[in-house]
Amino acid sequence: MNNFYITTPIYYVNDIPHIGHAYTTIACDILSRFHKLCGAKVYFLTGTDEHGQKVEKAAIDASIDTNIFVSQMSDNFKKLIPFLGCEIDDFIRTTEPRHKQSSQQFWLKLKNNNQIYLSNYEGWYSVRDEAYYSDKELIKKNNEFFAPTGSPVEWVKEESYFFKLSEWGDKLLAYYTKNPDSILPKTRYNEVVSFIKSGLKDLSISRTTFKWGVEVPDNSKHVMYVWIDALCNYLTAIKYPDKSNKLFKDFWPATHIVGKDILRFHAVYWPAFLMAADIEPPKKIFAHGWWTNEGQKISKSLGNTIDPYDIINTYGLDQIRYFLFREVPFGNDGDFSKNAIANRVNADLSNNYGNLVQRISTFAKKNCDSQVKNTTNFNKEDNILIDLLKNSFQNYLNFLNDQKIDQSLKVIMNLLSETNAYIDSQAPWNLKKTNIERMNTVLFLSLNIIVKASIMLLPIIPNSANKVLDILNISLKNRNFHNIEQLIDANLNINNPVPIFPRIEK
Ligand code: MSP
Repeated sequence: MNNFYITTPIYYVNDIPHIGHAYTTIACDILSRFHKLCGAKVYFLTGTDEHGQKVEKAAIDASIDTNIFVSQMSDNFKKLIPFLGCEIDDFIRTTEPRHKQSSQQFWLKLKNNNQIYLSNYEGWYSVRDEAYYSDKELIKKNNEFFAPTGSPVEWVKEESYFFKLSEWGDKLLAYYTKNPDSILPKTRYNEVVSFIKSGLKDLSISRTTFKWGVEVPDNSKHVMYVWIDALCNYLTAIKYPDKSNKLFKDFWPATHIVGKDILRFHAVYWPAFLMAADIEPPKKIFAHGWWTNEGQKISKSLGNTIDPYDIINTYGLDQIRYFLFREVPFGNDGDFSKNAIANRVNADLSNNYGNLVQRISTFAKKNCDSQVKNTTNFNKEDNILIDLLKNSFQNYLNFLNDQKIDQSLKVIMNLLSETNAYIDSQAPWNLKKTNIERMNTVLFLSLNIIVKASIMLLPIIPNSANKVLDILNISLKNRNFHNIEQLIDANLNINNPVPIFPRIEK
């Protein structure tokens, strides 16, 4: 059995969760549910990143004790998870004792492996990005310097421990040449490779000008740089440094889903740290794009952040899950607009899927006394649809195995619209008067497709797909990929249909 360890980035607690955070978490939930349906043992981790200057500053600005502040803010992220319909295995906070212990052990391992030395850092730092920048990366605007992200930078001069990143360039390149699918999409892989090729400098990994962090072992003047602390969360959760425990053995290396803005930390620094600590690099790092709001960059100062509670309360959970992952290829940037949500949900969920379920189940309930008999008596049109089902499932599997979530949804929607067209051409309402047996066959096949498509939709819209499977009386033990390409070998009983996807009025 394939084991699958999937992680979200851990979220900074300087602010409340917004659509960007919800997006990454739902992406991981979709992949987690998909791999479970494929029979894998899955471990799904998320949590909060609570140290560093940015978070400390937010606590000071809010005039709340930092410990109390981070707990309150972390709770906002934790509470959001079930609201997004996500089922996680662990929620990690970097202020927990287990994390302090694990990250300090990781540090000691790097130190023992002669990967860390003490020196002085002098250069640019952006608190908003929690990142160091070199002179040549900066952008000059009105005689002031900014990070390439647009964030302000400050000049920092302090004693600092360094990680010997410069020694890892060739080893990283060799690893990525051998494992070309370990960074996706391909454009991101190319970006990472060319960054490494441009030459890596040693990385400052401790700070002395503030205290809000994990103390460096053996030198309490220093706290760890927030990124080395944060990245270690992926190891803490599987009980590092105990590499012989079951979680570590079953689940490392992980698949990390991250936004494109934090790819360098995950695809350059993190694998180098790991290799330097004698740990295998991540299995895969997938970088997704960013959402804008009605064409504008989302930012607190513009006041256009999107609250996940607002949009889910307005449009419905599955509607938003579906929109986010059908509208935009996973990996690309996307624009969030009310018009686009209404168009997408109405076309795909109401008019295609919902309409098919509604008309077939209502018709079958009424005209077959709630029971559609099993049959194998198929004609050419039926066989075309049966072949399409088989192909669709194979394509769906391939796409989701490659994280091409939008493509997998296109496949399902195509199967459903072909089924709608099949019903229109077979016209069971006419067959009712002329050929009851043929009517039964058309209904049996259509209902089978609805069941199979609903099972394929379970990772993306679990609540609605389960409601449809409830209408069709499919037992919980049959809601998986087992035998999905074969038609059901039993009569189908129909419960009272309930509306699943009301149309969104624009
Ligand atoms: N704390 C770090 C991650 C440490 S992981 C060891 C961090 N946190 S964050 O809260 O700032 O961002 C978390 C994730 O949200 C990132 O993957 C980021 O790309 C994502 N998003 C933030 N805004 C976004 C959009 N507007 N759109 C899509 N995702 C975006 O970085």
